[in-house]
Amino acid sequence: MTQLANKHILLGVTGSIAAYKAADLVRRLREAGAEVRVVMTEGAGEFVTPMTFQAVSGHPVHQDLLDADAEAAMGHIELARWADAIIVAPASADFLARLAQGRASDLLSTVCLAAERPLAVAPAMNTHMWTNPATVDNVRSLQQRGILLIGPDEGEQACGDVGAGRMSPPEQIVTRLADLFSTGSLTGKTVLITAGPTREAIDPVRYLSNHSSGKMGFSLAEAAVEAGARVILVSGPVNLAAPAHVERLEVISAQQMAAAVASRIDEADIFIATAAVADYRPSRARPEKIKKDQSHLTLELEKNPDILAGVKQQHPGVFCVGFAAETTDLERYARAKLEAKQLEMVVANQVGPAATDTDGTFGSETNALQVFWPGGEAHLPLASKAQLARQLIPVIVSRYEQRDRTAAGKGKIVKLNQASRPKI
Ligand code: C5P
Repeated sequence: MTQLANKHILLGVTGSIAAYKAADLVRRLREAGAEVRVVMTEGAGEFVTPMTFQAVSGHPVHQDLLDADAEAAMGHIELARWADAIIVAPASADFLARLAQGRASDLLSTVCLAAERPLAVAPAMNTHMWTNPATVDNVRSLQQRGILLIGPDEGEQACGDVGAGRMSPPEQIVTRLADLFSTGSLTGKTVLITAGPTREAIDPVRYLSNHSSGKMGFSLAEAAVEAGARVILVSGPVNLAAPAHVERLEVISAQQMAAAVASRIDEADIFIATAAVADYRPSRARPEKIKKDQSHLTLELEKNPDILAGVKQQHPGVFCVGFAAETTDLERYARAKLEAKQLEMVVANQVGPAATDTDGTFGSETNALQVFWPGGEAHLPLASKAQLARQLIPVIVSRYEQRDRTAAGKGKIVKLNQASRPKI
């Protein structure tokens, strides 16, 4: 269930006898790698205590819309923004009605109204309440708005009636939620990614490097895992934790990065080079710390191996994606790189003073990308690196799948519309 790894899942619990099953749902979501926060309605509190959910989720439970202290800690808008997906389980008939009406009458309904992320409901109620035309209308209206309906199951109910209305088992809810994050487009493929800067030793205490944060490469690794790929991430020194289910190889210098890539490239179907590899290294790393007794110091540098170009030369069958950070003439330089290194794709972004959107620095949280391939291009407007990675993977997959076909629609600019974006 790798798709749920590191995902923020907001669980809404409403007033139903099935509320006790939601504790097991939290446990299973956490086992799948998700971080879970729980919002309880007043009705839910009649069936289970907040303490239960605090214990299983590891976080205080959110209950009140009008509690100033709770709002100050994490308010309803922050909760809505925090969530990658919201699941209301169990969802009572009353809650479905309020959701259908767009009410903001308590914390959970307000968060659902404010959230722009996928919303799922797992109804649980008496079978006659479920089949009542009012509920049927409400559910239809929710589904028309894109809200995911999970269940309910049929069977004997707590009240003794038999029929549809039982909350789906937690394991089924977890599977359906995972599907929300899964494009599955890279299932069975191995993706090798380089990320971060490299450090080139001058002496035992000094080095040459750059400001690369590694965020783009790490976000791509996570997005590739979500798409079903096996991911090997070769990373220079960065301050980031490896995304779950990613195999991380840590290196320092460009030569080490080249060696790590060479040792694993045979396994790769796709190679994505996001690393800001130092182009030069000191010809001779001094064994002792250099003393500052000279008025001038000359360092002799020699060229580092071009890892990406080397991969393409030695493994022409691997689909190679390069990155290009440019201060001017983005398209011209990116296309020159595409040609010179014989790549399948180059992902370019503006850096320096012209990059007013992203303040022109490495390491920023956001970016805007232009993607070029022989005969085509795509623009991905300013977004967080995590969002861009999730948009870029489908672009890579689409070119990867079309590689052997005659490129149709040469020069066509692909604008990513809602339909062509991944589901999250
Ligand atoms: O030619 P330039 O350095 O601008 O190309 C950038 C692309 O090449 C990036 O994808 C980067 O990861 C890769 N590269 C590399 N090894 C180098 C230099 C760049 O893999 N020594």
